[in-house]
Amino acid sequence: MDAALCTRYSCLCVQDELIQVFQGVVMTGSRRVTVAISGGIAAYKIPEFVRTLIRAGYEVRCALTPSAGEFVSPMVLQTLTASPVRSELFSPEEEGEIDHISLADWADLLVVAPATANTLAKLAQGIADNLVSTVLLATQSPILVVPAMNVNMWQNPATVANLEILRERGVHILGPEKGYLACGWEGEGRMSEPEDIAREVDRLFAAKTLEGEKVMVTAGGTREPLDAVRVLANRSSGKMGFAIAAEAAHRGASVTLITGPVGLRTPVGVKRVDVETAQQMYDAVFSELPNTSIVIKAAAVSDFRAANPDAQKIKKESLKEGEGIRLELVPNADILAEVCRIKGDRFVVGFAAESENVVEAARRKVLRKGCDLLVANDISRTDAGFEVDQNAIIFVTPEGEAEELPLLKKSEVASRIWDRVEQMRAQKLEE
Ligand code: CTP
Repeated sequence: MDAALCTRYSCLCVQDELIQVFQGVVMTGSRRVTVAISGGIAAYKIPEFVRTLIRAGYEVRCALTPSAGEFVSPMVLQTLTASPVRSELFSPEEEGEIDHISLADWADLLVVAPATANTLAKLAQGIADNLVSTVLLATQSPILVVPAMNVNMWQNPATVANLEILRERGVHILGPEKGYLACGWEGEGRMSEPEDIAREVDRLFAAKTLEGEKVMVTAGGTREPLDAVRVLANRSSGKMGFAIAAEAAHRGASVTLITGPVGLRTPVGVKRVDVETAQQMYDAVFSELPNTSIVIKAAAVSDFRAANPDAQKIKKESLKEGEGIRLELVPNADILAEVCRIKGDRFVVGFAAESENVVEAARRKVLRKGCDLLVANDISRTDAGFEVDQNAIIFVTPEGEAEELPLLKKSEVASRIWDRVEQMRAQKLEE
């Protein structure tokens, strides 16, 4: 970045290093982003995204597919980035300004937004037939794709398979969101909002603050058999625990995720252990515990199990007309409390599902369980907690301190939980 641009974007240049103050955090090193724009209506939002990145101190260059220019003005992007914008692969003039390979090499991160089904397919299959697909194939830097398309295109098995390929290769994927689509349909397919994409970029550039930590996260609900087909279960979707595991991996930790039966994809870089019953979760937790420095118990463990589960299906014909059955339930071990009893130097975080007097109940629970921090949820709310994508939590400490967070996406809640854990651990080390 030259001195003129530094002044323009309120950054400080010290020799070749860019040092900037952003959201109170001093960050060093280069932060160059190539934004690859493909031809979808959501491209009209990209100038806002580019502007947000530049305000945050990123250096940005833009590359367009031939059809992207139908939806967003290259002139606007060029003015915002103060850099030539390219859209042609075989253009001697454009190639003379910035050659396509240096667009790929220059970037520390490539963001494909909006990523159409066509561009995703090319990236998955290694096709390089326009400027964007060629740059994506040539780069060695991480790639973030932000899909946007019609809901049926998004759900088409071809797109699903391409996404799976990209996920397996470690390509970062953000969205799409559900909502009203420009094509008139409603459903999954909306591009994530510019501020959310910018936040994801920040996350990808964030320092690996959990490097060296061995994290264990439990997630989902356990399932206790009643007979050969029926189970005692709960409404936990596992989304909160999965988001916590993903964020820990993101911050550089080595992560083991022990989960009850859920319909969620394993986050990139996370080791997953599937269990069904509370007893299986107990066994998995204690087998992993010796290799763990931080434990976060977000699972909704069943407090009870059937005393005598039937190995066969309980048949109605074995009962008299109108007769019910009586189930005897016996308590399961409290895994969190037992972990806390032998935790040593480990940092242990528990969750609390409360339906009334949330803070008071959580204050009692954090002391009863013996954990370092409790994340309390008010389960009487319908807009947060079980099965939805957002959560409203309250941090409760053993000292009785309670800090309430607003309603946030579970990915953002996960990030706040890790910020809090890191801060409390650092404080503990200082004492
Ligand atoms: N937990 C656990 N083992 C159990 C029950 C709960 O490890 N058998 C953990 C959960 O993973 C969570 C915390 O304990 O981190 C609190 O769970 P919660 O359901 O809120 O509390 P309970 O201990 O079940 O108490 P109560 O149902 O009376 O509120």
